[in-house]
Amino acid sequence: MRCKKSRNIIIRNGTLITESGKQECDLLVEDGIISDISPEIIKKGVDVFDAIDCYVVPGGIDVHTHMEIPVMGTFSSDSFAEGTKKAISGGTSTIIDFANQEKGKSLSEAYKLWRKKADNHVFCDYGLHLSITDVTTESLHEIDEMIACGVTSFKTFSAYDRMRISSDDLLRVMKKVKEVGGIVTHHAENGDMLNEALGRVVASGDLSVKSHPLAHPVLAEVDAIKTVIRLSKESGCPVYIVHLSSKEGLAEIINAKKNGVKIFAETCPQYLAYNDSVYLVHDFSNLSKFVMSPPLRDGKSQEALWDGVLSGDVDVLATDHCPFTIEQRRVGEKDFRLIPNGMDGVGTRMEYLYNEGVLKRGLSIERYAELTATAPARIFGLYPKKGVLKVGSDADILIIKKNIKFNHKLFYHEKGKYLHRL
Ligand code: URP
Ligand code: ZN
Ligand code: ZN
Repeated sequence: MRCKKSRNIIIRNGTLITESGKQECDLLVEDGIISDISPEIIKKGVDVFDAIDCYVVPGGIDVHTHMEIPVMGTFSSDSFAEGTKKAISGGTSTIIDFANQEKGKSLSEAYKLWRKKADNHVFCDYGLHLSITDVTTESLHEIDEMIACGVTSFKTFSAYDRMRISSDDLLRVMKKVKEVGGIVTHHAENGDMLNEALGRVVASGDLSVKSHPLAHPVLAEVDAIKTVIRLSKESGCPVYIVHLSSKEGLAEIINAKKNGVKIFAETCPQYLAYNDSVYLVHDFSNLSKFVMSPPLRDGKSQEALWDGVLSGDVDVLATDHCPFTIEQRRVGEKDFRLIPNGMDGVGTRMEYLYNEGVLKRGLSIERYAELTATAPARIFGLYPKKGVLKVGSDADILIIKKNIKFNHKLFYHEKGKYLHRL
């Protein structure tokens, strides 16, 4: 058993990663809340977990998942129950998923639908972002209603014809979200440039999976990032770039940060673990796993993203968890455009970054906690309830054995519920 609800327990002898750095302390949990952090805690009648030779970090927070989302006539293959089970077994105790507005429908319909899919099914705590795909006077008004429902982040797309909104509408959304104190998350790929690139691919006559990255040039990502930076400057609205894939996109973000733009960068394990050489493989079942948008980039981007993870230029590691079975992907064997985009990840993110980052690349354990829990909590209004080991915080606690491959135990607050964010 690698995960357990944390009602009452003393975690003894561990190296705690707190906001003030490493602390050799005990940690007491009472009723699922951290109630004491002190050098030696004595309390009768409470279970003790010996965390000697272990790091004790905040439970993982994955702020980018898509459980049972409708995509191209099918649904991502994890229900909220299955996906959140994977999350906790891999050391993640909170997720934020995306409720998607359908064109012609309201934001509150999407919100209610996602609450229905998730409430009473989730195994860890969860929150929702709201994807806005139809910008009307009504949907802009509804942003206030969503804030009252605890949704503080609003996703916008510059790609996907059925989801994307114009730059003018993006600015209207950003002005409104700024007014209510929220944040815009953005899928940054210029849809017109994608359509143009796709036209060239179709004209070439090769619709096999290896053409997928050709239909998503780096320039489309860079262009969309530049646009959203400009609109963020104009509106003052903070912006969070989801699934950043390229060196050039990261350079734009670093530059904008230097110029005082409130912008955050998220990348995902797939962009660190792989590069576009995978698209040379000819086996459909392996290759089709990497059909996602944006696609994997070259080795230079892969290394630049790793540099960003190590240096702090990348703020968050999330997953974009959106799995499909091989049967679901098989429809696109002859035409990659029919393959539903996305891959698995919620259960393996904490392990991946520990093994590849902390053990192999010298990522500090403090940055590990920051990237996987503290920064996501701060950016998305969960802090200090989540994302930190602090008296009064929820007892979502991940214990990792030092100096060996990811070997962990997760104590999590309680069987999941919806998080009303601030
Ligand atoms: O290909 C991807 N990333 N699928 C999930 C949906 C999205 O764009 O985030
Ligand atoms: Zn996206
Ligand atoms: Zn996504």
